[in-house]
Amino acid sequence: MSAEPLEIHLDDQDIAENLRRDVRVGLTAERKWLPPKWFYDARGSELFDEITRLPEYYPTRAERAVLAGRAAEIAELTGAKTLIELGSGSSEKTRLLLDAFTRRGGLGTFVPLDVSVSALRGSTVTLAADYPGLRVRGIVGDFTRDLDRLPAGGRRLVIFLGGTIGNLLPTERAEFLTRMRTALEAGDWLLVGTDLVKDPAVILPAYDDAAGVTAEFNRNVLRVLNRELGADLDPEAFSHVALWDRDREWIEMRLRAERPMRVRILDLVVSFTAGEELRTEVSAKFRPEGIAAELAAAGWHAERFWTDPDDLFGVTLARAD
Ligand code: SAH
Ligand code: AVI
Repeated sequence: MSAEPLEIHLDDQDIAENLRRDVRVGLTAERKWLPPKWFYDARGSELFDEITRLPEYYPTRAERAVLAGRAAEIAELTGAKTLIELGSGSSEKTRLLLDAFTRRGGLGTFVPLDVSVSALRGSTVTLAADYPGLRVRGIVGDFTRDLDRLPAGGRRLVIFLGGTIGNLLPTERAEFLTRMRTALEAGDWLLVGTDLVKDPAVILPAYDDAAGVTAEFNRNVLRVLNRELGADLDPEAFSHVALWDRDREWIEMRLRAERPMRVRILDLVVSFTAGEELRTEVSAKFRPEGIAAELAAAGWHAERFWTDPDDLFGVTLARAD
């Protein structure tokens, strides 16, 4: 089957409005911050894909190893008719699941959902060509907002891979898991990938690679603001910072102003002092007991928890109670 036209839950006007709101809140806060979803224009999505191939960035390889070993079991246990992927990006690892479902039979529809139109366009066209028996129905949407409009019917498996759940703050995460549960029915499934707590000497280089790709990905958010809001930020005047927060067990990415700056953005003039930092992303790392507890608090029962051979990354399969 050919890919269907993308279903738009978030149009250009919504995106612009949300970006303006986030900029107004985040850049006028005492400690400046922006939500990480604004990294992912076409260039940001390409840079993320490049990150996944870096020697230092272990999460993608580790999660792929888990999926390669467990895809058949996931297909068998869930018996899903509809597979929904949140923050799908290129859906590259998802092919392991699609292959397993194809062998088993029964999966009718694949629904990737992402804020990035460019990533979705690419993935839906190639997946529809590569899986001719599958209905591929891409949704442009925001998984923090558009969960009440997921396709109904059939047994559903929602997958949220890559550790992207760790890019939500703890309160957002709890809200997300609860809304996800409300959107689904008892007997539906959730497969969620989480990077695990480990020696920061392993984690930090994954967010500060030698080739500087992550630094470019981080600065890309400034280019998005310049293009979308006509701002005049100088990306080269900001340096990439990745640090491990030992207490909260998360990585924080920041952009540090290398000199004092006054920046025009919307109707605001935003000042940066030399050395001031703008938080652009949190990437939480998890412990197995914490994942199960967070899922249970939101009405999910963790049925399986798998890791790769080096215990770097966890994949949990949970059922809606
Ligand atoms: N799942 C893929 C991609 C992870 S990158 C993997 O495991 O490799 C994170 C993806 O989530 C990007 O494609 C980005 O565009 C998307 N994303 C980030 N925030 C989002 C949001 N709020 N709603 C929908 N998609 C989002
Ligand atoms: C998408 N997400 C899980 C990535 C992560 O590791 O938190 C985004 C990323 N940020 C820097 N490198 C990759």
